[in-house]
Formats: sequence, C-alpha cells, structure tokens
Amino acid sequence: MLILAIETSCDETSAAVVENGWKVHSNIIASQVEIHAKTGGVIPEVAAREHVLKIIPVIDQALKEANKTLNDIDAIAVTSHPGLISSLLIGTNTASTLALLNNKILIPVNHIHGHIYSNWLSVENPRKIKFPILILTVSGGHNEIIYMKDHHEFEIIGETRDDAAGEAFDKVARMLGLGYPGGPEIAKAAKSGNPKKIKFPIANLGKNSFDFSFSGLKTAVLYEIKQKDKTQQYICDIASCFQEAVTEALSQKLILAAQKYKVEEIHLAGGVSANIELREKIIRKIQELDSKSTFRHPEHISYCTDNAAMIASAAYFQYKKNPEKYKEWRNIIAKPN
Ligand code: KG4
Ligand code: ZN
Repeated sequence: MLILAIETSCDETSAAVVENGWKVHSNIIASQVEIHAKTGGVIPEVAAREHVLKIIPVIDQALKEANKTLNDIDAIAVTSHPGLISSLLIGTNTASTLALLNNKILIPVNHIHGHIYSNWLSVENPRKIKFPILILTVSGGHNEIIYMKDHHEFEIIGETRDDAAGEAFDKVARMLGLGYPGGPEIAKAAKSGNPKKIKFPIANLGKNSFDFSFSGLKTAVLYEIKQKDKTQQYICDIASCFQEAVTEALSQKLILAAQKYKVEEIHLAGGVSANIELREKIIRKIQELDSKSTFRHPEHISYCTDNAAMIASAAYFQYKKNPEKYKEWRNIIAKPN
C-alpha cells in the first residue's frame, strides 16, 4: 500500500511517499527555520502563510522523488491534530481536496502517533519491531512515556506537567543568545562546556510517577545567568549543564518505567531524540539495568523532527486495523489539541 502523507502541524511543510508503513520512497521537508529564527520562535500566522506557498511544490517534489504519480497512490494521510490550528488547516484542506478529486482513501493522523511510528521508517530494510514497547517521545510541544501493547494501542504512563523538554531547550537557548531552534544549538555549545560546573535541579515527582517537569529547571537557568558576564565559555558551560539535567531527567524516568514495564523494545522519538547525549545516556542506563530490551531511535535524523513519512507510517497501521472506517470520504477536521 502506497501512502502520500502531508504534515503541516507547526513550521515544517512536509510530504512523503511511504510503502507498507515503513519503506520511505521520499520525505520532503521545507523548513521555515530561517524565517522563525528572526523572531526567536514560530508566529502561527507567518507559519500558515508559508505552508500555503510551499504545500503544492512540496507534494509535487515528494511524488517526483519517489518516481510516482497520484495514480500510483492508494491513500492520502494528513496530520489532523494536535498542532497550530492555522498550520494544520493548510494540510487538512489540501489532503481532503486531493483525496476527493482523485477518489483516494483519506486518513487523518494524530501527530504524536506519527512521532511514535518514526521508528518503523527505513529506506532499505523493514525494522523487525516486537511488542510491547516503551516509548519516550520528546518534542517542542509534547513529552510523554507511552506503553504500546500492539499497533495503535497506546497507554500514556507519564507526561510533562508543564513544559516539554524541547521547549525548555528552545527557551534556554534564547536566554543564552543562541539560535533557533534551541535543541541543536544547545547540543553544539554543550560540546565545549563542562557538564559538572553547575548542578541544575531535576524535578522529583516521586518514585511512582513517570511524569516530568521542566519549568523549575528553566527558572534555575534564568536565575543563574542573571547579571553574569556571558563569555563564550560560560555560555558553553551553562548549555552543557542544562543538557546534562534535561537528559538525566528524561532518561531516569524512562529507565524507572522500564523497571516496571518489562518490554521487548525501548524507543526514543520526537525532535529531542536527535540529541546524541540523550541517546547515549539511555543506552548506558539500559546496559546498567542489564535489560534485554532492544533500544531504537529513528534511523535517520530527518525522521526525528517533524516530517510526513512518520505520518504515512502511522496512517498505514491505523488503516490496517480498521479499513472499513476509511471507505467513504469524510472531510477532515483539524483540531489544535
Ligand atoms: O518534533 P519536533 O520537530 O516538533 C514538535 O512536534 O514539537 O521537535 C522540535 C523540538 C524543538 O524544541 C527542538 O529544539 C528540539 O526538538 N530538537 C532538539 C535537537 N534537535 C531538535 N533538542 C535537543 N537536541 C537536539 N539535537
Ligand atoms: Zn512533532
């Protein structure tokens, strides 16, 4: 089954062609980073206007790169929620119209389900994934630990009580005068810093909770850097100590969950899964636990941050579970939450 997927939930305009939920034929991502870097964050109206300009050329390019035409496509998938409503609308209207005009199956997808399915994607070989799985999914807008018993059977066992880790990366980068998005900038600066210079607090929400909290850490960084002489070295040290605290908080909770839920696999997903320090910490902690669980992060860095290939994968398994549900075309309603 060949799916053309569209993703416009935030500030990336993306279209992809994916076969049978895993094989990536194309995954085109038009990033708006340069535009939003000027304002230090996404202005929804600006993002939506960019999506309008990019969506059709990006879809054309995805088909071209996959060497396919719309005739070859079996279904069209699109992110319907959650996200910025003005951004989502561009994707959902485009997908709904394309499906109606070309008589295609139309599949709305939850963006977070998409991130979860990013671990199924590959160019060469299908990844032989075994259930049950524990997934830590960390982005700019969300942050959860999910227990997944089977395809599209999700149980949220932990989530953030305030900010997502990605948002904390973005805010702290801004405080330090680093670029946008903050995650990769902090990671780069942290390489030249001393992670032990300052010990930032990690929220302690109890041994029985798999929830996160990052607002205290953000405030701690704010107080620490106030009235300090921000030399290059100082900025690198703060970036390094902040990264140390966030990755420690994320990996500690994931491992705590892994002790309770015996799983075949442990996955990391979402924009922050691109962070090398986080990946290495989780691998180390799984080894210390003497766990037999297979650890995976997305095969390619472009599957970590927002992309349409992951939406195609989630859509495929969603469709397979209940094909009857998608027999008739139904206009897709975009929802922010
Ligand atoms: O999944 P994503 O593209 O968008 C949302 O669904 O929110 O995640 C974007 C987030 C941003 O906050 C960005 O700073 C973070 O992922 N990010 C990283 C790295 N690359 C992207 N955070 C830490 N380290 C990275 N290397
Ligand atoms: Zn995302």
